[in-house]
Amino acid sequence: MVAELLSKIAAGNGHGEESAYFDGWKAYENDPFHPVNNPHGVIQMGLAENQLSFDLVKDWILKNPSASICTVEGVDQFKDIAIFQDYHGLPQFRHAVARFMEKVRGDKVRYDSDRIVMSGGATGAHELMAFCLADPGDAFLVPTPYYPGFDRDLRWRTGVQLLPVECHGSNQFKVTKQALEEAYKKAAEDNIKVKGLLITNPSNPLGTVLDRETLTSILSFSTDKNIHLICDEIYGATVFGYPEFISISEIMLDHPHNPDLIHLVYSLSKDLGFPGFRVGIVYSYNDRVVSCARKMSSFGLVSAQTQMLIASMLSDEVFVEKFLAESKKRLETRHNEFTWGLNQVGIQCLKSNAGLFVWMDLRQLIGQGKDPTVESELRLWRVIINEVKINVSPGCSFHCSEAGWFRVCIANMDNETMHVALRRIRSFAAQKVGKKDGGVVRSSSGKRKCWQQNNLQLRLSSRRLDDLMGVSQLGSPHSPMSPLVRAQT
Ligand SMILES: Cc1ncc(COP(=O)(O)O)c(C=O)c1O
Repeated sequence: MVAELLSKIAAGNGHGEESAYFDGWKAYENDPFHPVNNPHGVIQMGLAENQLSFDLVKDWILKNPSASICTVEGVDQFKDIAIFQDYHGLPQFRHAVARFMEKVRGDKVRYDSDRIVMSGGATGAHELMAFCLADPGDAFLVPTPYYPGFDRDLRWRTGVQLLPVECHGSNQFKVTKQALEEAYKKAAEDNIKVKGLLITNPSNPLGTVLDRETLTSILSFSTDKNIHLICDEIYGATVFGYPEFISISEIMLDHPHNPDLIHLVYSLSKDLGFPGFRVGIVYSYNDRVVSCARKMSSFGLVSAQTQMLIASMLSDEVFVEKFLAESKKRLETRHNEFTWGLNQVGIQCLKSNAGLFVWMDLRQLIGQGKDPTVESELRLWRVIINEVKINVSPGCSFHCSEAGWFRVCIANMDNETMHVALRRIRSFAAQKVGKKDGGVVRSSSGKRKCWQQNNLQLRLSSRRLDDLMGVSQLGSPHSPMSPLVRAQT
């Protein structure tokens, strides 16, 4: 027998990358859409990025050249920043992030900047949490569907387990007390020690926010069971319209709880759209967790130059207010335009008002009279990737308990690309019912209706699809190549 050269962890597949979620990214990378150079390529709708308000950030950077430090105006600060390595982080950075978090929560709560611990994005923050709160073999409960990265972030290096709390489409995937109790009971039967509950609010992939009643019941569940409650609130500023975003910090103000059990995970990857900066934080209400996490944060500090830039940008209250308001508005417009376009061809999405994605319901398309299965979901997903040439993520990669749902990211592209994607989906839908009227599906009474299962044909040539969609127009001088698309590759 040949001895394994690597550690068991390194040689294993705990990274979770053998999942449809990541396979879709590979399909995109092998054949990326470009309006001019590759108009038949795969459009990336599997990446939860927020690129809609970069013009505002660019303006700010141009008006504040000293904040970037490696500029004529900022170079005098270079030496101080280059040698700074304190794991507490720059006070002005922690203060600015705490203020920003308050603003995102409508100034209804206060945050103490001394409780902010830096990490490499929310990814690093989750691992920090798992290290601080649980031993190998212990478990966290996680309502489904949930972000696939959790399987890597919380489990891979820590040996911690994640146990699903099964939520269902019949009640908009609400996290009910009953579902929590069932998951807890099952863990006890399997002799697994539950150390905490991890919630994502607003939800990735659902794009919904947790209501006050649900949050209160979650807080009381964690208090009663004496288990930790980790709240990932990294999509807090992506909420538009109503219901509004309510942080667990607000619920804590007027409900009994043990603060030692409550921890927030936050980052600037989604709300500001800066995943490349790797600015993540843990905000714990538990002093011992703050102290331990801070020592551990040496493994994933935010660079001092980034701290300086972020401190400066987020201290500009006028900019922050404008950015938050404008970003919500643009996300709402994008969301409405996209869901309206889908609705025209009878495709519904879960009602939502947050996040950088929609949760698309294609159950009618794959059931063929029977309940959809993971296999039929993945079959349809392969057609969508290989023939419709759109990378969306199948529900099974989010541990969804029901087959037939897909997450579609809508904020990582410019308007033109979004319209190409919509046209592709509409044509696909039109093909399903043998119509070529731009995808609007109507019943004999003239009302819109959903795709019919008996007209299902899961094979389409992408060339024919593109012809139907008039993709060749995209190469015209009236459709300039988008820098956003370029940045995606
Ligand atoms: C719910 C959730 N948590 C954490 C992360 C990781 O974020 P970051 O880029 O800050 O590491 C993501 C990224 O998509 C996410 O959706």
